[in-house]
Amino acid sequence: MKIFIDTANLNEIRAAKQLGLVDGVTTNPTLIAKEGEPMEVLIRKISEEVEGPVNVEVTRSKSEEIIEESRVFSSWGNDIVIKIPITEEGLKAVKILSTEGIKTNVTLVFSSAQAILAAKAGATYVCPFLGRLDDISFNGIELIRQIKGIYQNYDDIKTKIIVASVRHPIHVIEAASIGAEIVTIPPTILKQMVKHPLTERGIAQFLEDAKGIK
Ligand code: E4P
Repeated sequence: MKIFIDTANLNEIRAAKQLGLVDGVTTNPTLIAKEGEPMEVLIRKISEEVEGPVNVEVTRSKSEEIIEESRVFSSWGNDIVIKIPITEEGLKAVKILSTEGIKTNVTLVFSSAQAILAAKAGATYVCPFLGRLDDISFNGIELIRQIKGIYQNYDDIKTKIIVASVRHPIHVIEAASIGAEIVTIPPTILKQMVKHPLTERGIAQFLEDAKGIK
């Protein structure tokens, strides 16, 4: 399973990298805005830091504008993936960008119907939002399972699923249990995944007992 880091914060990316946990990065306009740095400067810095794909979301809505923005964004690093929300205009743009060899990630996906269309348009990745579905009492992991099953039915679908909107370690475990290829995880959740109270208690006891070693 590949782990992408769901942040635009360079320090968080560097910290996760030291743990060997950065196969890629996902950002969105909310995460970029939080950093208070010009978007191009920030994305270029992230791209230099990370070996894998860096996902950057478009900020325009019409297909021509999305295409124009995507061409610019994709020049900001060696492995930029353009995140495009699922709309008719977005799909038109994905279709054209995929013929130009620009990698795309169809995002804000909340149904298998949307995921089918993303794959048909030639998206490199599709981003179903697990947490936001759970928030409104829909079973997010069931959606991921269904999309995975549909994609597996067709040899010509090459679109990969990035499990997004991860809110807690159980989401990661559930995604891994159904064989998700990529999960994008916020740094705080990575930290939670490391911890266990019994580990902490065990370490404290062993350190105490170590004082008695002759
Ligand atoms: C990542 O690509 C998504 O934009 C992100 O996971 C959304 O997470 P949120 O639902 O916690 O905002």
